Amino acid sequence: MTTPCEKAAILVEALPYIRDFYGRTVVVKYGGSAMADCRLRKAVMEDIVLMRYVGMHPIVVHGGGPNITRMLKRLGISTRFVDGLRITDEETMEVVEMVLVGKINKDIVAGLNDMGGLAVGLSGKDGMLIRADHMSGKEHLGFVGQVREINTGVLETITEKGYIPVISPIGAGNHGQSFNINADHVASALATALKADKLVLLTDVPGILAVPDDVSSRISRLRASEVESYIDCGIISGGMIPKVECCVEALQGGVNRTHILDGRIPHSILLEIFTDEGIGSMVVNG
Ligand SMILES: Nc1ncnc2c1ncn2[C@@H]1O[C@H](COP(=O)(O)OP(=O)(O)OP(=O)(O)O)[C@@H](O)[C@H]1O
Ligand SMILES: [Mg+2]
Repeated sequence: MTTPCEKAAILVEALPYIRDFYGRTVVVKYGGSAMADCRLRKAVMEDIVLMRYVGMHPIVVHGGGPNITRMLKRLGISTRFVDGLRITDEETMEVVEMVLVGKINKDIVAGLNDMGGLAVGLSGKDGMLIRADHMSGKEHLGFVGQVREINTGVLETITEKGYIPVISPIGAGNHGQSFNINADHVASALATALKADKLVLLTDVPGILAVPDDVSSRISRLRASEVESYIDCGIISGGMIPKVECCVEALQGGVNRTHILDGRIPHSILLEIFTDEGIGSMVVNG
């Protein structure tokens, strides 16, 4: 049992970190693969609400790959990936939007509200937050999109009033068309547009692994200049590719720090922000 005095000491230990991050924007991308366990989800929700109450501005972007795949299966729609991107025809796009905006987004909003935060769910269509186009060179994959422009207006209005925005990675195309965008890309574009201090990508692995499947091979710091060679030699593959690319993009866009953390470790966000524990992988300039 922690004594009251020990509790006070722990809180005071966090003071320098709280002071440093007061008023700063932190974009947290919550990956679909790390969302399955509800006890761990609760810990993620607690971390985000705590960040808000100590004066930070957390912005949540979520994925949802596994849930989309499950729903497509239930509906008898087959799904295929090319280079980690889901082939998204019109019918698939409809399901992607329904699952992300209607289900996952609102589950996260409700989870944050339960913890005493006030969250507001948005898709990229709300307030024209995310304008999107077909991903260049990938038109054959259907409605796979890329961010064309971020309109931060709606987010500024919401965060000023103390709400926590929760964003589904759906882009608004012309004439009401929806685009399916990788949530990592949305998170880095938002972090850049909002001049965020930090980008945190929560996923279902301990970080970037030098030997796939060997959890003891975590790379704690990866330099941006090393990323390409890691991808070329196949060490970084699949869903990890957009993550590291997005960290590099965010760093180039002026974001100070980018992290890939294990969303399955309880309170990994707090460990990263409020302690000197070196958890996950950090992608750094250089
Ligand atoms: N070098 C690597 N180190 C760690 N994971 C890797 C590596 N290369 C590939 N991966 C894969 O990347 C996956 C994480 O990306 P994935 O897209 O599956 O999850 P996510 O982005 O967290 O969720 P979502 O796509 O639903 O938002 C890991 O589960 C792992 O299989
Ligand atoms: Mg992914």
